[in-house]
Amino acid sequence: MEIIIQKTAEEGSAVGGRIVAKLVQVKPKAILGLATGSTPVQLYKEMIKWHKEQGLDFSKVTTFNLDEYVGLAADHHASYHRFMNEHLFDELNVPPESIHIPDGLTENLAEHCAAYEQSVQEAGGIDLQVLGIGSDGHLGFNEPTSSFASHTRIKTLDEQTVEDNQRFFKEGEEVPRHVITMGLGSIMEARTCLVLAFGENKADAVAEMVEGAVSSMIPATILQFHRDTRLILDEAAASKLKKADYYKWVYSNKPEWQQY
Ligand code: F6R
Repeated sequence: MEIIIQKTAEEGSAVGGRIVAKLVQVKPKAILGLATGSTPVQLYKEMIKWHKEQGLDFSKVTTFNLDEYVGLAADHHASYHRFMNEHLFDELNVPPESIHIPDGLTENLAEHCAAYEQSVQEAGGIDLQVLGIGSDGHLGFNEPTSSFASHTRIKTLDEQTVEDNQRFFKEGEEVPRHVITMGLGSIMEARTCLVLAFGENKADAVAEMVEGAVSSMIPATILQFHRDTRLILDEAAASKLKKADYYKWVYSNKPEWQQY
């Protein structure tokens, strides 16, 4: 795992933006896996900047989002569909037919999940999967004890995640407990994983993910087995890493051809 520690979330997101841009430059038909939540918002701003200021073309890119709440329509104010339009797709030239987000209103969940997984395969698999990490160590909505072999399916949110995500809902509105999420097995199939974590409330989960024992109690630890995971942190999220100085040295001494 490559650990990239930057002073701030803004600087970290700029590094992430360069990683995405480099991929789309060399592979215009790249397949991107995308996440929602607060963490990737600045990364998406960077991607929009690349598009608007550097002319980076996303017209041949295909995207697959990680997850969606069961029961929320695409235009619900707290749906991940709406989130993606507001934070990325309204400003980028990815054709609507190349955007895939699980349908929270599907009438046949099992079939929908299997078809979603199938469409990732048919597209050729994910080149780069953007991920945030939950304060309980989840990836996507794969909560603690999720199977490491899991694929897209329905999951039930942990109380901690419901609490963490309440801020996206209006007062008095309940966070749906059920979600559709790509599995840990699906995530492991991505050729590159780009994980972002910012802020002190992610420090424990990050320390477990990087330096802890692999366990489904901390789902993100599965990435210790992934062949190309790049983890971008700010100082606060990196504050509990024992080997932070080593990771910083490695990053600042990368050979030029390896730099982002
Ligand atoms: C979102 C997702 C989640 C979030 C995680 C962190 O699509 O899959 O795993 O990445 O809950 O959320 P934030 O970034 O809001 O702290």
